[in-house]
Amino acid sequence: MVMPFHEGLIVHTQSHDYPIVITEQSTAEHSSMAKQIAPYISGRQVLIVTNDTIAPLYLKALEDELVEQFMVKVCVLPDGEQYKNQASIDQIYDALMTEHFNRDVTLIALGGGVVGDMTGFAAASFMRGVNFIQIPTTLLSQVDSSVGGKTGINHAQGKNMIGAFWQPQMVLADMSTLKTLPARELSAGVAEIIKYALIMDEAFLTWLEENLTAMMALDLAVLGEAVKRCCQYKADVVAQDERESGVRAC
Ligand SMILES: NC(=O)c1ccc[n+]([C@@H]2O[C@H](COP(=O)([O-])OP(=O)(O)OC[C@H]3O[C@@H](n4cnc5c(N)ncnc54)[C@H](O)[C@@H]3O)[C@@H](O)[C@H]2O)c1
Repeated sequence: MVMPFHEGLIVHTQSHDYPIVITEQSTAEHSSMAKQIAPYISGRQVLIVTNDTIAPLYLKALEDELVEQFMVKVCVLPDGEQYKNQASIDQIYDALMTEHFNRDVTLIALGGGVVGDMTGFAAASFMRGVNFIQIPTTLLSQVDSSVGGKTGINHAQGKNMIGAFWQPQMVLADMSTLKTLPARELSAGVAEIIKYALIMDEAFLTWLEENLTAMMALDLAVLGEAVKRCCQYKADVVAQDERESGVRAC
């Protein structure tokens, strides 16, 4: 049985609607990451894209379970913003081509915003567009980059200069992955949440002030609630303006 603790978060886009599932239970057998994403994988072919920091933490459990149902391959990229470039995208294409994967493949982004942006861009461009699923593992990627369909890479002359809008089939934000997140990355995510609160409403800002200590102490239920509120806001913005040219545009 799947037990998301915030059901019903749907992103409406021009191409399709997709759910954001926020859970803190994916490490439990009955609601593993694999069980939650499997219904959103349409073909038999799966390529998990991750990096060499996240792979030792979360890859095996996901891969071991998915192989029971799908033909699963893995692409492990080097960790870091400096690798968010064409060479990494080529590494993903190479993995897809070597396995003779076709239009039915689903790419799974297992990682923070860097992995998510690159996997999304590879999905947008491989065979003119294939399915992908986001499993964001940083707080920043859970509240921001995994939702909304902005994908891309950096160019030597500018950040995020090459990319595409490409929406995932689903987003699975497993709060329990935050337990291994470095403190600096947790703070970066909290800073992003404060940014949301400043532009959303006063009620959220008040809630945030009351719950900031709990968030910094890694209270997963409180963090999950914050992610839900930010994602709801982002889903509303995307429904009105998919290219997000409004107040949070970057
Ligand atoms: N597409 C969008 O709408 C959008 C929005 C905002 C930011 N971004 C992009 O997101 C990127 C930043 O994302 P980020 O802040 O997630 O950084 P990141 O992906 O570089 O992750 C930060 C670090 O944490 C590690 N990490 C990730 N999850 C972990 C976990 N659970 N446990 C331990 N370590 C973990 C990563 O390997 C990395 O070293 C930038 O490239 C930015 O351009 C995109």
